[in-house]
Amino acid sequence: MNGRVMLKSVFRCLRTNPVSCQRNMSQSSLAGKVAIITASTDGIGLAAAQALGKRGAHVVVSSRRQANVDKAVALLQSQSITVTGTTCNVGKEEDREKLVQLTLDQCGGIDILVSNAAVNPFFGNIMDSTEDVWDKILSVNVTSAFLMTKLVVPHMTKRGGGNVVFVSSVAGYQPMQALGPYSVSKTALLGLTRALAPELAQSNIRVNCVAPGVIKTKFSSALTGNEDIMDEFKKQLSIKRVGEPEEIGGVIAFLCSEDASYITGETITVTGGIGCRL
Ligand SMILES: NC(=O)c1ccc[n+]([C@@H]2O[C@H](COP(=O)([O-])OP(=O)(O)OC[C@H]3O[C@@H](n4cnc5c(N)ncnc54)[C@H](OP(=O)(O)O)[C@@H]3O)[C@@H](O)[C@H]2O)c1
Repeated sequence: MNGRVMLKSVFRCLRTNPVSCQRNMSQSSLAGKVAIITASTDGIGLAAAQALGKRGAHVVVSSRRQANVDKAVALLQSQSITVTGTTCNVGKEEDREKLVQLTLDQCGGIDILVSNAAVNPFFGNIMDSTEDVWDKILSVNVTSAFLMTKLVVPHMTKRGGGNVVFVSSVAGYQPMQALGPYSVSKTALLGLTRALAPELAQSNIRVNCVAPGVIKTKFSSALTGNEDIMDEFKKQLSIKRVGEPEEIGGVIAFLCSEDASYITGETITVTGGIGCRL
């Protein structure tokens, strides 16, 4: 079959078989779903909220500062996304509980959790890091991710299933110099994903993870703002540029959609081609 004939037959198939197109659209649609995204007033969290919202989900955005929440809510509303916003520091139990209760009150249930929050209060040799540093990093980056999951699972179960996505990092595979404790916390999320997946599959809840490479956000600005470091870093990449938050948001939305219905316990690395293995 030559190219023209092949194209013609594809179009004929689409005309005569519209159901296949509709099926593809409905597989990626998140209409009717309610999604909590933590740390979602900027960067990757905000991009995840946009990606989920554009596919029809009611998104619940939050972060520590009210002014940031207001700004993100206004932006998402301007893009015709259904959104609820509140403050939540994921490191605080009362904030986590408030976030979940507000979602139940205003949205009627929970289908999706994107656990995106992380802190890094320490740069330097790992042997110089203190107990306080480790407590803070593990508490926000790992324990809170688990405790948020524990809070939402009963509500997902009531809805017949759901999706949890953790945001790890390429640093979880290859510890970054001067970011030892942070890197270890991101490795822990790979383990948490695999530990939760079999248990929650029984409730029809899939648990997955994304591990971004270097993505242009405030969080990475110390790195992306330094041309010498970036020139050196780009040598490791197949795609010779820094990633955009939207390139992570789309993968998160895919993992939460029916297109990914047979994927659980998995981490997708989104790094521009950095080799990742443990
Ligand atoms: N950017 C990268 O290159 C990169 C690479 C790999 C992995 N990651 C991961 O991606 C995730 C998001 O990073 P990002 O680059 O998108 O950061 P970002 O652009 O700096 O945004 C961080 C967001 O988190 C909120 N936040 C910070 N601490 C919080 C807390 N304790 N509780 C709730 N919200 C909090 C901030 O708002 P408030 O200030 O109002 O709280 C803001 O909305 C993190 O898990 C990070 O480790 C990033």
